[in-house]
Amino acid sequence: MEGSIIYFDNAATSWPKPEEVYKAAENYLRNGGANPGRSGHTRSIDADRLVYEARERAATILGAGEPEEIVFTFNATDSLNMAIKGVLEPGDHVIYTSFEHNSVLRPLTSLRRNGTITATMIACDASGNIDIQDIEKAILPNTRLIVCTHASNVIGTVLPVKEISKLARNYGILFLLDAAQTAGSIPINLQEIKPHLAAFTGHKGLLGPPGVGLLYVRKGVSIKPWREGGTGSRSEEEQQPEMMPDYLEAGTMNTPGIAGLNEGLKFIEKTGISTITEREFRLAYKLRAGLRDIGRVKLFEPVREHQSVAVVSFIVEGFDSGELGYVLEQAYGILCRTGLHCAPWAHRTIGSFPQGTVRFSLGYFNREEEVEHALKALREIVCRF
Ligand SMILES: Cc1ncc(COP(=O)(O)O)c(C=O)c1O
Repeated sequence: MEGSIIYFDNAATSWPKPEEVYKAAENYLRNGGANPGRSGHTRSIDADRLVYEARERAATILGAGEPEEIVFTFNATDSLNMAIKGVLEPGDHVIYTSFEHNSVLRPLTSLRRNGTITATMIACDASGNIDIQDIEKAILPNTRLIVCTHASNVIGTVLPVKEISKLARNYGILFLLDAAQTAGSIPINLQEIKPHLAAFTGHKGLLGPPGVGLLYVRKGVSIKPWREGGTGSRSEEEQQPEMMPDYLEAGTMNTPGIAGLNEGLKFIEKTGISTITEREFRLAYKLRAGLRDIGRVKLFEPVREHQSVAVVSFIVEGFDSGELGYVLEQAYGILCRTGLHCAPWAHRTIGSFPQGTVRFSLGYFNREEEVEHALKALREIVCRF
């Protein structure tokens, strides 16, 4: 490990990427470069084909019904804002959980503060358990939307989204799934979970570059575009064309990012999602087991370890988390994330607010030796200080 770094920050963004991801983004910029779907020349047509290929591949991997249900955005935050602001009307009520990321909490707060909506937060327990009955009890006649993260970006717990989705459907309420932390790490089948809307980001488990996200809009779901403009289609019309995905994709897209994402998706197809899940789970299992054995380490555990992603949070008694992160990098080359991870209510829920935790988030390219090195580092730190 001497001299090298250990990257344990995959929940923020995954690194490294498969080699083909770098190559495809560079190849598009050097040798393609045209705006997809805008012009009639061959390079523009090729770029359009590339975008369609990535859309089709994402739809297949995520189990969408049709490629047109997949909209390219710029990240999960973009997708969540488009979904939340695209479906809510004045007077609507929203239900969300205490494990949501700021990309859900902040749009809801601003809509609440300007009087557009009311909202109810359902508290999870410290290990991520959520009682579906608590959600059902919070439903009001004007409840329009339930938003839920698929997995906590703080402790890794996978939430019972299929059951929540079913509840929403039973009451005729829209269900928005935030799959930022699960796509590419655990299998997702949109036709089984049946959300109306789902937000994805391209740069985490889907292994693409930053700057690309995906929004799934189930066929028939009514949504307003929050960005309108050029689509390269029906240019004679003054209003936004209503056909999907153009309806929600105004403006030049991040084509080099999509080219890279397409290769990230191919890598997932080739490797197999179950192989990725198993490998990430094995690494996280080893890490959690090792952390439990170190005195002064408090591990924040998911309720059922087999239903979690490889996001591991802990604190070391007597240590500020930020300071510990600094020591881990400076003395041991371990890059991780400390603090609140853009999820303040999750930390209130697990009892680590306002200091936050140290978060090790593992990816497919991490190795067992890296986990062993990190555990050794923590044992040394705990003994020394
Ligand atoms: C659960 C969750 N939702 C949304 C986001 C936002 O993702 P992005 O930064 O790609 O917009 C994140 C990012 O960490 C996340 O963990």
